[in-house]
Amino acid sequence: MEAVQRKPVQVDLSLEDAIRGRRSVHYFAPGARVRDDQWAKLFELTALSPSSFNFQPWDFVVVDDQARKEQLLPLCWGQKQVVDSAAVVAVLGDKNPHRRDAQVLQQFQDNGYIDEQTRNAYMGAVDVVYPDEARKIEHAVGGASLAAMTFMLAAHGMGLATLPMIGFDPVGVRALLKVPDEYLITMLIAVGESADRDLPRQQRRPYDDIVHWEVFGGSRKTVYLESAS
Ligand SMILES: Cc1cc2nc3c(=O)[nH]c(=O)nc-3n(C[C@H](O)[C@H](O)[C@H](O)COP(=O)(O)O)c2cc1C
Repeated sequence: MEAVQRKPVQVDLSLEDAIRGRRSVHYFAPGARVRDDQWAKLFELTALSPSSFNFQPWDFVVVDDQARKEQLLPLCWGQKQVVDSAAVVAVLGDKNPHRRDAQVLQQFQDNGYIDEQTRNAYMGAVDVVYPDEARKIEHAVGGASLAAMTFMLAAHGMGLATLPMIGFDPVGVRALLKVPDEYLITMLIAVGESADRDLPRQQRRPYDDIVHWEVFGGSRKTVYLESAS
């Protein structure tokens, strides 16, 4: 049997090194496990992600049972990372996190952010911030995506490899993982040990292409000249 190759891992990275070193890993070393103490740390760090009103519109379904991962495989376009990784984590975006508004706003008051009057005024006000289905979806996807990024960076910092995946059948995965309708499956993330077979990172769009100054399409030079005149 071919020996499983594992990528040497470096932990306790600087934040910049973690950001630079994280990759979407497509080749996992089969048979690796993520220990419970690693899961605990991973989700403790993930939970520190920011969210609107601190509503924390994220939940996670961790699938590390091999038989269930085999069931996931055909629902994920046959992507082999699903069965070779140690686990697949479904990152759920909660469309209705304000079911916890009493608790969340009480924390704001207890921690000295707002007084009782403001707390009472805010109760139910989330319906103003998220008035319709589209805004609820934006909030759920935005919040869950920030948590997903924290998760991937934290995992990398702990020597674990990840792959975010949108290539799956949302209806089938929802049924298999028993995800209620109020939650969106924002993405799946395979987690495990890298087999160190991935190709180099692909190019990124350059600074001038992605950064607009002051207004969309504005360049740094334009802004400078305008403000100098
Ligand atoms: C939301 C999201 C969904 C993705 N879905 C898949 C996927 O289904 N299959 C896959 O092989 N890669 C997937 N990727 C990985 C991207 O191809 C990868 O992030 C991109 O090419 C940049 O590579 P890097 O993460 O190594 O820098 C996904 C990435 C993101 C952020």
